[in-house]
Amino acid sequence: MARLQIKNVEKVYGNSFKAVHGINLDVADGEFMVLVGPSGCAKSTTLRMIAGLETISGGQITIGDRVVNNLPPGQRGISMVFQNYALYPHMKVRNNLAFGLKLRRRPKQEIAQATAEVAETLEIGPLLDRLPKQLSGGQAQRVALGRALIKQPEVFLFDEPLSNLDAKLRASMRVRIADLHKRLKAEGQSSTVVYVTHDQTEAMTMGDRICVMKDGHIMQVDAPVALYHRPQNLFVAGFIGSPEMNLVPAELDRQGRRIRIIGQSFGYGDNLADRLEADVGRSIMLGIRPQHLRLAKAGEQDALEGKLAHVEFMGHEIDLFVDIGGTRVVIVVPGDSYDGKAISGDTVRFVPSEPSIHLFDTESGRNISLPNLN
Ligand SMILES: Nc1ncnc2c1ncn2[C@@H]1O[C@H](COP(=O)(O)OP(=O)(O)OP(=O)(O)O)[C@@H](O)[C@H]1O
Ligand SMILES: [Mg+2]
Repeated sequence: MARLQIKNVEKVYGNSFKAVHGINLDVADGEFMVLVGPSGCAKSTTLRMIAGLETISGGQITIGDRVVNNLPPGQRGISMVFQNYALYPHMKVRNNLAFGLKLRRRPKQEIAQATAEVAETLEIGPLLDRLPKQLSGGQAQRVALGRALIKQPEVFLFDEPLSNLDAKLRASMRVRIADLHKRLKAEGQSSTVVYVTHDQTEAMTMGDRICVMKDGHIMQVDAPVALYHRPQNLFVAGFIGSPEMNLVPAELDRQGRRIRIIGQSFGYGDNLADRLEADVGRSIMLGIRPQHLRLAKAGEQDALEGKLAHVEFMGHEIDLFVDIGGTRVVIVVPGDSYDGKAISGDTVRFVPSEPSIHLFDTESGRNISLPNLN
């Protein structure tokens, strides 16, 4: 059982490159925290500092009630699972699993029982006498998971554990890990997790909360639903969601309650007016998710207009790529709502759903219109 606290933690590498700029993150006991962000944003560096595989250049890391800044990895009460499994190649699965407990000189009988339990949990019993090279990718990753689990750590650390697996295996391992986390938690066992990924689906489906990072800074920490509906800045707005949120330079006419984009405009009502901050920057960006635009009904007033450039049929949904004066806007419509008649070059009229409109201050990137979440 352990809470993990990261306070003002910095990392300056030996070549004087500052990779982490004073981050603060509080992971509750039993929480599944996901770190996401583009390549190079310091996800692994952060995880390795928690693990003790990398020194910290400033700040403080606390696991449970112990400051661990100067503790070696083995004394921090953590287990780490890596992308490349890092199994001992010359040891059978059984011994790979048991290795951590052997190091701790646990009694033979206890080790045998723990190995059997973990093997059952992860359904790797039949593999116990194989060598790592005799395993599939998914099996090897389950053994790596088992090796972390058997140590009953206070905090589990995962660094892109599924990125070597194909899409189908990744999906099933994702569910398996999430289920395992729930079960450990329900049984009152230690289950605090920090999970690094750059896969949005993993982040959104597994995390109790998600920490979005960029260039060694934390951009937002929130539950998946909140991140999606209330992105605090342009970066998070563009990073979370697929297809990406449409972001278009805009002008705001507060008096006339209209938003102008690319030579067109549309009106807005109380919903947006009520949540607009008083101090609106001069230069703003309109943000609207492709799912929050819909095709206008015949004769509907106050719609935006563009030329259909491209259609992607995805089955359950259809992505329409529309050009408005050289700017590309994506509209996602339900698969059964589009008759397939509109073709490239046709004029498309569409309407934004006001409760889902965001406005950002271009300079600071700040969302100046955060919606209320009910
Ligand atoms: N040993 C090192 N010395 C100097 N710079 C390093 C070192 N290790 C990493 N970096 C730099 O620190 C930054 C963060 O790297 P890190 O590996 O933590 O990123 P990441 O978010 O895990 O990326 P990825 O998604 O590609 O794994 C990068 O700019 C990287 O080049
Ligand atoms: Mg990494």
